[in-house]
Amino acid sequence: QRATVVLHPDFRIGAVDRRMFGSFVEHIGRAVYTGLYEPGHATADEHGFRRDVADLTRELGVTTVRYPGGNFVSNCVWEDGVGPREEREPFIDLAWRTIEPNQVGTDEFLQWAEREGIEPMMAVNLGTRGVAAAAALVEYCNGEAGSKWADMRIANGREKPYGVRLWCLGNEMDGPWQIGHKDAHEYGRLAAEAGKAMKLVDPGIELVACGSSSMQMTTFGSWERTVLSYTYDIVDHISMHAYYEDRDGDRASFLGSGTAMDRFIERVVATADAVGAQRRSDKRITISFDEWNVWYLESRFAGGENLPLQRDAPRVIEDVYSALDGVVVGDLLVTLVNHADRVPVACLAQMVNAIAPIMTEPEGPAWRQPTFYPFAETARLARGVALDLRVQAPSVTTALHGAVPLVTAAATWDDVDGTDGALALFLVNRSGEPVDVDLTHPGLRVELTGGVQLLADHEPAVEGPEHAAKVAAACLSTLGAPPAGTGDGSTTVTLAPESWTA
Ligand code: AHR
Repeated sequence: QRATVVLHPDFRIGAVDRRMFGSFVEHIGRAVYTGLYEPGHATADEHGFRRDVADLTRELGVTTVRYPGGNFVSNCVWEDGVGPREEREPFIDLAWRTIEPNQVGTDEFLQWAEREGIEPMMAVNLGTRGVAAAAALVEYCNGEAGSKWADMRIANGREKPYGVRLWCLGNEMDGPWQIGHKDAHEYGRLAAEAGKAMKLVDPGIELVACGSSSMQMTTFGSWERTVLSYTYDIVDHISMHAYYEDRDGDRASFLGSGTAMDRFIERVVATADAVGAQRRSDKRITISFDEWNVWYLESRFAGGENLPLQRDAPRVIEDVYSALDGVVVGDLLVTLVNHADRVPVACLAQMVNAIAPIMTEPEGPAWRQPTFYPFAETARLARGVALDLRVQAPSVTTALHGAVPLVTAAATWDDVDGTDGALALFLVNRSGEPVDVDLTHPGLRVELTGGVQLLADHEPAVEGPEHAAKVAAACLSTLGAPPAGTGDGSTTVTLAPESWTA
């Protein structure tokens, strides 16, 4: 089979915002306790955070981390999670039915992010709380000395404001599972008022209104339209959440997930632009795709109301990933890069232990799941501007998404100081056969210097660091310059069956 990809550095989609390579840490299961934070661990720093996890986070290349939820945020009282730890009381987190020990809160997280050079993205509770608590949290984080909440932060040991720029106005408020779930009118009005107050505290912040929890929600579309009709002038972004899974071994549909994500983005953009057009507004709402990943939600997750009340950092949604899942994650990143003009922020959900690329054992090792590698490589290589490629490829009809192309591609061009540019090219072969890709680049000498390839693993995923290392050894390889040669005009590369290549 053959495909063609045409590229030119003057044909551009838009700049790649580094916040596209964000992730997410929620108070769920072992994401925080025995994940990010484990004071007794052999690698723990003086703050109780695991250095082995911090090292892997750096290797993953995460630029932004969303916190503290997720569903957790909708019943979280942030004031109870600041101040002396010994005075903080455990509480029942209703989202995941877990006793939250309350030892990591706003200050601990923000200081961890600062030490790691990561931009934090905070969420406020618009489920059980409202305008005043949201504005107070912005003041606590970003206010200068001389007012109540900023002074409380200073009394808690942090003089300098954190300067948190990105703020989510609640989480998945369209979902009936959400604590304090609302209809679009109730949420839209509340989000507009909370956002107004938050920007009055700090006009420099960016706000994310909740979009739909998935494209399958029955309210999808009308939710975005109604919420934006209230919030258009105050918010900067609308959120998108999407999880994909291999259902009943339907590999073609699963491998086509990136096309489903692509259509989802285009529908949200169209809806946001329609609201803007009706208002005769020149403002463009962009997307914070602040939860995306492979998650075996339907096939492995029991559901919130069926969870027993647990304590001591239980194992919740600790999905074990295969190399096939890694190829799909790489393909989802191709879709995100191809929407660089409208998706400045995106978060792989999540980062540690819960549906995560980084896994840990309490008092034990930390390791990489197969989904780690395409994320790390894309975050490392996708810089500068995303190029507007022309891709021609055979397609296949899938049960879930109809026709999807068998080859997807994205490229970025980093033109450093007008010297030779750096081209990064990402290619996915979704078919079970090898595909030759003719890469045409008129007037541009392209020298492909090498890359990384991940092959889908036909073995089922098995738990543990040894398996993860085995999968990496079998499925991940470093590529030299392509054998078909380099030079002016065109280059041919052969993609292995069911593979992701950078
Ligand atoms: O990431 C896990 C959960 O998925 C989040 O808490 C919620 O926002 C979404 O439904």
